[in-house]
Amino acid sequence: MSASEDLPRPVRRPRRMRRSDTIRRMVRETRLTPDRLVLPQFIIGGLNKCEPIAAMPGRNRMSIDLTIGECEKAMAMGVRAFVLFPAIDPSLKTPDAREGLNPENLTCEAVRAIKEAFPECCVITDVALDPYSSVGHDGLVENGVILNDETVDVLARMSVLHARAGADIVAPSDMMDGRVGAMRAALDAGGFEPVSILSYTAKYASAFYGPFREALDSAPVDAPNIPRDKKTYQMDPANAREALIEAELDIEEGADILMVKPALPYLDIITTLRSETTLPIAAYHVSGEYAMIKAAAERGWLDESACMTEALVAIARAGADIIFTYAALDYARWTRD
Ligand code: PBG
Repeated sequence: MSASEDLPRPVRRPRRMRRSDTIRRMVRETRLTPDRLVLPQFIIGGLNKCEPIAAMPGRNRMSIDLTIGECEKAMAMGVRAFVLFPAIDPSLKTPDAREGLNPENLTCEAVRAIKEAFPECCVITDVALDPYSSVGHDGLVENGVILNDETVDVLARMSVLHARAGADIVAPSDMMDGRVGAMRAALDAGGFEPVSILSYTAKYASAFYGPFREALDSAPVDAPNIPRDKKTYQMDPANAREALIEAELDIEEGADILMVKPALPYLDIITTLRSETTLPIAAYHVSGEYAMIKAAAERGWLDESACMTEALVAIARAGADIIFTYAALDYARWTRD
């Protein structure tokens, strides 16, 4: 076939820059290296325990000793930041989540053990009540209402506890108003000025957290006077401008990093926050986002490494500097091989 003589021929041809792998690599705009990834770790009590999480193929709940082994593997592959989620024994869960304030709890014990084994790694702790709450909420509940300021008091004390155990970064995931300012004040008063706050700035009331709540058995319980969902504190998925209000407050209150969660369904929010602040932006590629690619790949419907890589690079392209993902080790392996 030859091109018609009568049709105008383009002078600019973007395809020139796609001609070979070498050229494509030269003009590639986004490079996602494993050192921008954070690996979430689910911790259980005991020794030498490893329990697979059904809805998160490839991820397990592990006792602290095995978690150390997993961290070692990750560090060797260039993933050096971890966020910890404790699966608390049901007998220790109470309506006031008081186990969260026990300096010997699973979180503090895990932070101490990981930092002792790998002083150079970055340990991030999740600051919220849900793992310790018998009703499955991130805040204290009274007469069917989530109490804001009373919860913030507990969160501030929790963050000092985590800092004392050795956490490098504390990450409030609860969405109470004013918690970043209260945590900053408490940390500074306790002599923990160097400890950073990564705020879950725009955390949406998302259905994509399902597998995570299964992993920690932390879903809101079905009981009288207990809200069935988290919609009075997590954001409405339909809202974008509201993320700017949250960002403004977190910046004023002293946050060091702003996070958007989930990631892929909220790329517009990542891009907006990126352009509105000079602070680093993080995004949480959550359990449901991970599970859907894994599940489709298990059925042979999607190419796992290609789809996961495309998803993670898209999150980085949208403007995230840091990505929390359960696929951190897989990604590190794929980029190395
Ligand atoms: C709770 C918390 C949740 C996640 C991180 N911290 C769940 C929730 O808000 O119910 C979800 C992470 C994921 O789905 O991967 N403070």
